[in-house]
Amino acid sequence: MDEIIRQRIRNSKTLLGPFPNFFYEKTPDYPQALFLEWFQVAVESSVHEPHSMTISTIDQHGSPDSRVLILKDIDNEGWYFASSSQSAKGKQIEINSKVALNFYWSEIGRQVRIRGNAVTMNKERSSKDFLERGKIAKAIALLEKQSLILQDPHELEEALTKQLIKLNRNPKLISPSWTLYKVEATEVEFWQADKERKHIRLQYNLRGEKWVKNLLWP
Ligand SMILES: Cc1cc2nc3c(=O)[nH]c(=O)nc-3n(C[C@H](O)[C@H](O)[C@H](O)COP(=O)(O)O)c2cc1C
Repeated sequence: MDEIIRQRIRNSKTLLGPFPNFFYEKTPDYPQALFLEWFQVAVESSVHEPHSMTISTIDQHGSPDSRVLILKDIDNEGWYFASSSQSAKGKQIEINSKVALNFYWSEIGRQVRIRGNAVTMNKERSSKDFLERGKIAKAIALLEKQSLILQDPHELEEALTKQLIKLNRNPKLISPSWTLYKVEATEVEFWQADKERKHIRLQYNLRGEKWVKNLLWP
């Protein structure tokens, strides 16, 4: 059984296409603008959860860590995500704000890589994000235990029930640790797959106030 699955892994095909065109000569001056163009193509191409992204952080020993999060917003200043400041990632960001984001949209053979700094947004913006969450998601966050060891799954059920009762009494409850973060990018790469493996890579680098664009070898 294992051997069949391992053979399946070895024989799996990737990047078969068809892929959309990427007219890299005609791209906006800002990576955020190109990201929005690509995001629209992803939505129109029915990419599954295009707002899911991998975020990498660095722990106190200098070891990398990563997990999937939801992109909450994007504007001229950066890319936004939300989580608990007391989670593993929250503590890592507090020590070292350097992060990397990665989007991979397999249906259209596109990858976007973003490197930059995570900046904590103020209480008002974090609270607004929290209040937009669903009831269970709010209750889970109000437990204030993300990434801690769970000794017994029953503890989760009990604690969650208590938080849901509290939330029903006061729907405006806000988790003190819930934080909206903005990733201010310094480097953004747009990667477009090509069936012949001549992938197109366009990198934006922030030089002072200006974004400089370069093609990279595939
Ligand atoms: C599709 C998807 C979306 C997720 N979105 C979030 C999110 O927006 N915020 C969050 O804190 N965790 C989210 N998670 C859970 C994280 O991947 C992770 O398990 C959690 O944040 C704890 O990470 P940490 O221990 O590195 O802090 C999501 C997971 C998946 C698979």
